[in-house]
Amino acid sequence: MSDTSFTPRVFSGIQPSGGLTLGNYLGAIKRFVDMQNAGDFETVYCMVDLHAITVWQDPAALRHNTRELAAGFIASGISPDKSILINQSQVPEHAQLAWIFNCVARMGWMQRMTQFKDKAGKNTQNVSLGLFGYPALMAADILIYHATHVPVGDDQKQHLELTRDIAIKFNHDFGVDFFPVIEPVIEGAATRVMSLRDGSKKMSKSDPSDASRINMTDDADTIAKKIRKAKTDPDALPSEAKGLEERPEARNLVNIYAALADISVDQVLADHGGAQFGSFKPALAELAVDKLSPISKEMSRLMADQAEIDRILAQGAQQARALTAPILKKTYEIVGMVGA
Ligand code: TRP
Repeated sequence: MSDTSFTPRVFSGIQPSGGLTLGNYLGAIKRFVDMQNAGDFETVYCMVDLHAITVWQDPAALRHNTRELAAGFIASGISPDKSILINQSQVPEHAQLAWIFNCVARMGWMQRMTQFKDKAGKNTQNVSLGLFGYPALMAADILIYHATHVPVGDDQKQHLELTRDIAIKFNHDFGVDFFPVIEPVIEGAATRVMSLRDGSKKMSKSDPSDASRINMTDDADTIAKKIRKAKTDPDALPSEAKGLEERPEARNLVNIYAALADISVDQVLADHGGAQFGSFKPALAELAVDKLSPISKEMSRLMADQAEIDRILAQGAQQARALTAPILKKTYEIVGMVGA
């Protein structure tokens, strides 16, 4: 058991590997904003560009996507005055600690990672070494801040368990109580937003069909049209959540409504139970446009002022390094590096 007390600090990251979707917003960013505003934690949010390049990224696209993600964070309510907002490669201690963790983590641990197996598929000999080492870098992202809380989706739970294993092994090998052993808790009830074309698939920026997702840069007409065309079934909405169990597309639209309106699924069904999609979809479209247009407008304003984004990221990196540099120095000392 750890007897060291750590400052309550949140860290989370998103890969700048494509456009931002409603899935990123409702599944992650909205919760990041809530945790920032709750005031119970210091909050650090990160564009993980070093993770993105574990698979090929066109350099110009990577630069664009990183700035667009930063704009998305800020437009959604992440305030550079309340949170530290950074681009991973601008805080070199992440990569430096990741190297140490490459020497702590075991091959067998990494080989068990289901995300690696999914991403590599049959191609295990031809993917980058970075893709294999991805979770050690993620552990470094978290532990270089001594972060105590990491809001992520369910698909990242195994990586958080690995982060815990790395912290335990490091502390044990060196006989220290230095890295926090974080509980792999999936904070809060994040909304898992599914494809608008197939309720069994996660909404994804890499789905070939643009109609399957709402992009945070979509204009009002596009949002409304995509919702109108979303796949549904012929039945009316049930008046209780149980009635959505075998109806993935209907459930998805109700979940999206609840998350956007900040109300429970039960409340949505109390208000709309018995309604046909012919009337529920326009209500959802109106709500979505209402909530998302201000964000997309602010994103395009920011994207037109690249220097402002770069300034915010430079400032974030500076604030971050005030936290990460001493932790890296101490790590190097523990490991036995001369000059630390
Ligand atoms: N692997 C995470 C994802 O794909 C992104 C990520 C990288 C992350 N480093 C992190 C999330 C650290 C939380 C904490 O969603």
